[in-house]
Amino acid sequence: MTYHPGFANHVATEAVPGALPIGRNSPQHVPFGLYAEQLSGTAFTAPRSENRRSWLYRLRPTAQHGAFRPYDGAPHLKTAPFIDVPPSPNRLRWDPLPMPDVPTNWVDGLITYGGTGNVAQHNGVGIHLYAATADMDRVFFSADGELLIVPQEGRLAIDTELGRIDVAPLQVVVIPRGVRFRVALPDGHARGYVCENYGALLRLPDLGPIGANGLANPRDFETPSAWFEDRDEPCEVIQKFQGALWTVTLDHSPFDVVAWHGNLAPYRYDLTRFNTINTVSFDHPDPSIFTVLTSPSETPGTANVDFVIFPPRWMVAEDSFRPPWFHRNVMSEFMGLITGAYDAKEGGFAPGGASLHNQMNGHGPDRASYDKAVAATLVPHQIVDTMAFMFETHHVVRPTRWASETPTMQLDYDDVWTGFAKARLPG
Ligand SMILES: [Fe+2]
Repeated sequence: MTYHPGFANHVATEAVPGALPIGRNSPQHVPFGLYAEQLSGTAFTAPRSENRRSWLYRLRPTAQHGAFRPYDGAPHLKTAPFIDVPPSPNRLRWDPLPMPDVPTNWVDGLITYGGTGNVAQHNGVGIHLYAATADMDRVFFSADGELLIVPQEGRLAIDTELGRIDVAPLQVVVIPRGVRFRVALPDGHARGYVCENYGALLRLPDLGPIGANGLANPRDFETPSAWFEDRDEPCEVIQKFQGALWTVTLDHSPFDVVAWHGNLAPYRYDLTRFNTINTVSFDHPDPSIFTVLTSPSETPGTANVDFVIFPPRWMVAEDSFRPPWFHRNVMSEFMGLITGAYDAKEGGFAPGGASLHNQMNGHGPDRASYDKAVAATLVPHQIVDTMAFMFETHHVVRPTRWASETPTMQLDYDDVWTGFAKARLPG
């Protein structure tokens, strides 16, 4: 398996030498009688800097299939707008998802915790967690949004139309909207998080005064080489379309793309390659300094969703409260923990767990973290063996009924902010 470096660069790859047409996207005669098909991730007329599309050369056209019928799997996979329960202003936290006790594949193991916006209007996100114990024997795609997958436990071996991707905890993968894929579990089980982005495609943030380098560097994003299987056997394809699931059975594998070129493709990124930037004088910068990928909204500088990480790093700030400070935010923050401990919480936020702090509701360090930070001697300190992340959005995250009622919700979460001593004024 080989990968091509570079974020959304133009890749040209062929699994059979000579399969890629030269000079034309859709010649009258494609090599070997392959079918040319354009897969668009943006409008045809999107500006060049935004435009994402690839040309696929395949054994059969995707259009060759019968009618989709409703599919009754994945019972907890939901789509915004989430109106089952009123959005809660309360700070919410959940224990890790337990592994299912019956064999469950990656799609059927998706559980939606909440989300924002409205899929029909192409804004917002769906936030899902997964716990799976079986390989998929079907193929899946979301017509509703691109999928940012954040493994927390167990590797995923993902076959896609554009190639095969292995992804492990501390790596992430993005599957473009509409791209068919299948997930196998090399470790026999897997757990993690998914952000289904209905809005503008994820991209690298601008760097402004940081300069030409830093944060996630473009060359560390990897797209797969072309790969295909020539199988004339029944294959079930599940699609998510406006929130509902549909199924159709093909008489062949949909993974029959022999060659492709373009800048719309699945990609993988290793979070340990993130060039973390922080203060070298005083004060903790806003957490936007840790943005890996961003999906902009129509309001400049205000994200439909940001994917932000809290990686290992040196803390050297002088005369500063070093952990994340107390704050209230116009944005809403859904957090997960891949490994280790998050430096604003001494306990209760476990790897595989999640928390939600919606707009304008105060949060920050728990009391134990606060006490430790104000008592600390401020020498250079290295935070190691940790990786928390956040899906931060300018919409309110509305939880699903499942997330509101699951016994994994911690009913005593507010207590982490109790017991702070009152400040003492002079006199
Ligand atoms: Fe926050």
